[in-house]
Amino acid sequence: MAIRKKIIAANWKMNMTSSEAASFMEDLELELKNFDGAEVVIVPPFTALPKLSEILGEIPGVSLGAQNMWHEASGAFTGEVSAGMLREFFTRYVVLGHSERRTIFGETDELINKKVKTALAASLRPIVCVGETLAERDANQHHEVLARQLKGSLAGLDADQMLDTVIAYEPVWAIGTGRTATPEQAQEAHAFIRQTLAEMFDATTASKVRIQYGGSVKPDNAKELLHQSDIDGALVGGASLEPRSFAKIVKAAARG
Ligand code: 13P
Repeated sequence: MAIRKKIIAANWKMNMTSSEAASFMEDLELELKNFDGAEVVIVPPFTALPKLSEILGEIPGVSLGAQNMWHEASGAFTGEVSAGMLREFFTRYVVLGHSERRTIFGETDELINKKVKTALAASLRPIVCVGETLAERDANQHHEVLARQLKGSLAGLDADQMLDTVIAYEPVWAIGTGRTATPEQAQEAHAFIRQTLAEMFDATTASKVRIQYGGSVKPDNAKELLHQSDIDGALVGGASLEPRSFAKIVKAAARG
């Protein structure tokens, strides 16, 4: 079986000024001293990227991600940022298709697919978010929704590009609600996602892709979730805003 290094990302959403971000990193560095059991990604608002890019260069195992980007290189797209602008600050990952982007900003799989391709072409690794709503889960449609989102947002990628991509399974009903998917529910969805990737690409590629879980991950539920066989990390919202609680989640990814 492929060894997949766990990847724990802090999605700060619209929180943290750049000075708050700098002070967070000082504390996190102390909490994670000598820990190398997981890859850590900090995903701040755009405005904190310059400051964090100066700090993170000195912290091994921690890299920078962005929460979104536009798929054109430049031009009349007021309010947007390009992949090249993110690369300027050594951004390594970019979260695409988060459910908040899909629902609040109307992003479709087709748009997300364009962004994924642009990100990969710029050597940014996409973290592509998929997940069903509560109504879809209650109607037992989550497989259908996940397959549609995966096929739409990853259309046209080759296997090598898929290996540079991370999937985040974020059931919408578990985001910011305190209601986490049970480890069994999450594992079942992750196994389905991996099987779908095997059908879209091939079994070897699918066995190497990392699939994060997101949705009310907290220090007290992280270990059980992260020890499921197809869960390769976490995309953490609320609990990533406090260095100690985020560090506990990172440490929960250690084997054993
Ligand atoms: P919470 O951890 O606050 O539920 O947010 C999850 C999320 O949306 C991460 O991208």
